Amino acid sequence: MEEYINNLKNRYATKKFDVSRKLTADQMQLLINTLILAPSSFGLQPYKFILVEDAQLLEKLREACYNQPQVTESSMFVVLCYRTDINEKMVDNYIRKISEVRKVSEESLEGYRTGMLKAIESMSPEQVQTWASRQVYIALGFLLDAAAQNKIDACPMEGFNKDSVDEILSLKDYNLKSSVCCALGFRSSEDEAAKRSKVRLEEQELVITL
Ligand SMILES: Cc1cc2nc3c(=O)[nH]c(=O)nc-3n(C[C@H](O)[C@H](O)[C@H](O)COP(=O)(O)O)c2cc1C
Repeated sequence: MEEYINNLKNRYATKKFDVSRKLTADQMQLLINTLILAPSSFGLQPYKFILVEDAQLLEKLREACYNQPQVTESSMFVVLCYRTDINEKMVDNYIRKISEVRKVSEESLEGYRTGMLKAIESMSPEQVQTWASRQVYIALGFLLDAAAQNKIDACPMEGFNKDSVDEILSLKDYNLKSSVCCALGFRSSEDEAAKRSKVRLEEQELVITL
């Protein structure tokens, strides 16, 4: 337990990555598995994750991220996106998948199916997008925690022009919109941000026990 908390204390939003240190294939796979295993409302996973490896795309993204160096200096750059095609077809595909994986009939899942559809239909298109984007942030939380627990450094990033990022990555073609980014790798020994004390509210300011 102590190690877990110490790892959380050790993590910080990394500003300067060591460009010479790269994540191994196993480390990258661990982070990807974390994204896959993150929970989501209904289990619908209304998102996709873009791993940007192309150097030219990364250069363009850095500009769209107000020139934050983490974009090109990290070892792995992920754009976490929500789906814009959250509809009956998506729900039906999910029901089919549950039926296959759990070896239950699709008919037995009808109540679950209509429950999901009702929930989605009760929201305006904007509310559906907000809901989907919230699910993305759960995956981000899992990703940051997995990185911290495995001594991988990360910087979550919301500081970017969403329209530009969507355009650069042609996200419309994938029925996606960007929510948040995450740069991952290893801190540079010259990162001043690593030396700053953590600033957090006190427990009594954050936790209300009733
Ligand atoms: C959703 C989200 C977006 C963030 N966006 C940026 C960003 O664009 N650039 C940056 O350097 N840090 C960004 N941060 C880092 C926060 O500023 C940082 O997590 C916060 O100040 C707490 O510090 P710590 O993470 O180092 O403990 C972001 C953090 C979160 C959770």
